[in-house]
Amino acid sequence: MYESNEVFINDHPLIKHKITRLRDQSTGTSEFRSLVGEISMLMGYEALRDLPVEDIEVQTPIETCKSPIISGRKLAIVPILRAGLGMVDGILALVPNAKVGHIGIYRDEITHLPHEYYCKLPSPIEERVIVVTDPMLATGGSAVDAISQIKSHGGMKIKFMCIIAAPEGLKKLQKSHPDIQIYIGCLDRVLNKDAYICPGLGDAGDRIFGTK
Ligand code: PRP
Ligand code: URA
Repeated sequence: MYESNEVFINDHPLIKHKITRLRDQSTGTSEFRSLVGEISMLMGYEALRDLPVEDIEVQTPIETCKSPIISGRKLAIVPILRAGLGMVDGILALVPNAKVGHIGIYRDEITHLPHEYYCKLPSPIEERVIVVTDPMLATGGSAVDAISQIKSHGGMKIKFMCIIAAPEGLKKLQKSHPDIQIYIGCLDRVLNKDAYICPGLGDAGDRIFGTK
């Protein structure tokens, strides 16, 4: 378990540039989907910086040496459906052997409260580093519930990764789960009366999957 909340807000120009493309309402589904994947890979590279490694012996064409590999029970990626799915392939490109769980949550359009409809996690989950993905952290309700569900299954080492966060959601997530690491692509200004992030990028799920 992580001792205290660590919040990492992206400062890399490549990610900043791609987020600007995501925000643009004229960016179409195909480019939007690709950008979400690219941003997730770039953020994943940073978020996985503290994965544990161990040395193994390897025979190079020249000699035998000790060289590190990722150790232990490795990684689980857990997207919050639907929009979190768009972030999975980018991280899998870095860690192809990771297991993938799924948590289905939708936000009620009127109350903005989260409703969980599905949960399937890799077992055992206790030893794994778990990366929960969702492009949007708005009120924080969905992320808080998803992480509570993972903890109730025994998950401990949890990282939450989002592309855009609202201050309101970040505050709620930190208060509810002070023991996780939080990775944010960009911290936006505020939520509007419909609990959408301003300036945000609109509805991430609809833009990734071309629905609405
Ligand atoms: C969106 C988004 C998050 C949630 C964020 O999902 O992908 O899961 O809203 O809002 P919150 O922080 O206020 O809970 P949505 O419920 O629209 O479902 P979808 O991914 O199926 O489109
Ligand atoms: N969910 C989204 O997809 N976008 C927002 O701005 C808020 C919640």
